[in-house]
Amino acid sequence: MKLGILHPGAMGSTVGAAASATGHEVYWCTQGRSRETHLRAEASGLRPVTCLQDLADGCDGLISVCPPAAALEQANAVAALGFSGLYVDANAVSPQTAGAVSAVLTAAGADVVDGGIVGPPVREGGSTILYLSGPRAGEVAACFEGSHLEAHVLGPTPGHASALKMAFAAWTKGSSALLLAVRALAQAEGVSDGLLHAWSRFGPELCSRSEATARSTAPKAWRFGGEMREIAATFEAAGLPSDFHRGAAEIYDRMAGFQHGDVDLNKVLDALLNAKR
Ligand SMILES: NC(=O)c1ccc[n+]([C@@H]2O[C@H](COP(=O)([O-])OP(=O)(O)OC[C@H]3O[C@@H](n4cnc5c(N)ncnc54)[C@H](OP(=O)(O)O)[C@@H]3O)[C@@H](O)[C@H]2O)c1
Repeated sequence: MKLGILHPGAMGSTVGAAASATGHEVYWCTQGRSRETHLRAEASGLRPVTCLQDLADGCDGLISVCPPAAALEQANAVAALGFSGLYVDANAVSPQTAGAVSAVLTAAGADVVDGGIVGPPVREGGSTILYLSGPRAGEVAACFEGSHLEAHVLGPTPGHASALKMAFAAWTKGSSALLLAVRALAQAEGVSDGLLHAWSRFGPELCSRSEATARSTAPKAWRFGGEMREIAATFEAAGLPSDFHRGAAEIYDRMAGFQHGDVDLNKVLDALLNAKR
């Protein structure tokens, strides 16, 4: 198959490399993308085309792996070009947003497969799973057979892959936000040493975990806010309280300035406690 990646970010570039490792031709579109995306695409051996129209015209399948808040906008842009191939939305979005993505592309004549990625960017076998759902999910999974990216078909129901991703990230990223909020609260109240004392007895891993969480989440926090809001919408649609993840979204929004550069727990706590309200 000829496949297009929208776009070669930290994750998308490795998804593209996995598909090309199994013999597919994988393309990307240079228009509007940053130097970092150019470098990742080149390093992954992806083939450039200059504009989205060329990508849509030349590819049998497009795989969207972009910031969650841009997933629907990206789908609209592809639908407007009359793309009628196979479109995989592999973003961290709610089943409701996945449904909206599917609706615009189906109206344009495309077939849509829902996806959700769990794990880090694909570097070695066994690290990363692409969950898929929808009537043509098996065809997408076949593109990655024998690659380092494990593709797992959940079944024919659109939205199941997104729901699974939401449930998974609700815990991983939601609990990370809670941990950082707890450290900020203790600092605001002047009881950080007391909290660390209590944790040394009753939660010995939480001190180092909160420090590691600050370092690992801060550079990506700018896009985690959108993902938390997608999770909140998923809870709401299921009749469950959504305020946990609306709060997590605000925690990550306050950390959005750390996209580039060095960061540690102290800088994150400053950002959380001194955000403009
Ligand atoms: N990284 C992970 O560990 C991980 C794990 C699981 C799932 N995922 C999922 O993978 C997706 C992408 O994550 P990532 O880590 O690859 O992010 P990333 O490194 O920030 O890359 C995002 C890519 O999308 C492009 N982009 C930025 N703004 C855009 C917009 N408004 N419309 C369309 N494209 C845009 C970026 O291009 P420019 O920068 O050139 O503008 C970049 O190539 C997310 O849905 C995320 O939840 C990531």
